Amino acid sequence: MKNIVVYYSLTGNTRQIAKDIAKKLKCKIVEIKTIKEYPSDYDELRAVGKQESMDKVEPEIKPLEVDFSKYDNIIIGSPVWRYTYAPAVRTFLHSYKDQFKYKRLFPFATYDKQLGHIFEDINRENVRTSIVKIGFEFQYEEDSSTLITPLKDIDRFIEYINL
Ligand SMILES: Cc1cc2nc3c(=O)[nH]c(=O)nc-3n(C[C@H](O)[C@H](O)[C@H](O)COP(=O)(O)O)c2cc1C
Repeated sequence: MKNIVVYYSLTGNTRQIAKDIAKKLKCKIVEIKTIKEYPSDYDELRAVGKQESMDKVEPEIKPLEVDFSKYDNIIIGSPVWRYTYAPAVRTFLHSYKDQFKYKRLFPFATYDKQLGHIFEDINRENVRTSIVKIGFEFQYEEDSSTLITPLKDIDRFIEYINL
């Protein structure tokens, strides 16, 4: 099985998990990046991000030099933004959907208080084009880069991907 990890991360938590997964799977990793920059002030960011999430905004993202159709398993990481995936991940899912046909998607999310419906939303977006597997969640302390979820959950996720 050929794996690839693709993720969006603004403050580094999702990147941390994504890198660990890619290292353990010894696979390619790509980062989704927006063209525009989000506010560096955290409160401002929460407000802007929350509004974008509610409005289902699709911010422009930098093109990814990857053909996802060449992979079997696509591991997708996103932070939770207002109970769902970050807006940049919405752009990604819509832009690259055609390359996901019959692939296995393995979502994972980082969050601090409420996971919300991120996995249901990813499933709803992709159910017609691919097989969406059970999502794995990684909880961080609020406004922090301290992981609460035990690290062994990453290994459980790897085992699940390799099944
Ligand atoms: C705009 C915004 C909205 C957020 N909404 C939620 C939320 O609804 N539930 C939650 O548990 N955490 C929420 N968070 C916290 C992030 O999900 C958490 O800090 C995550 O680990 C950040 O990932 P990153 O460092 O990869 O960007 C939000 C953060 C931001 C910036």
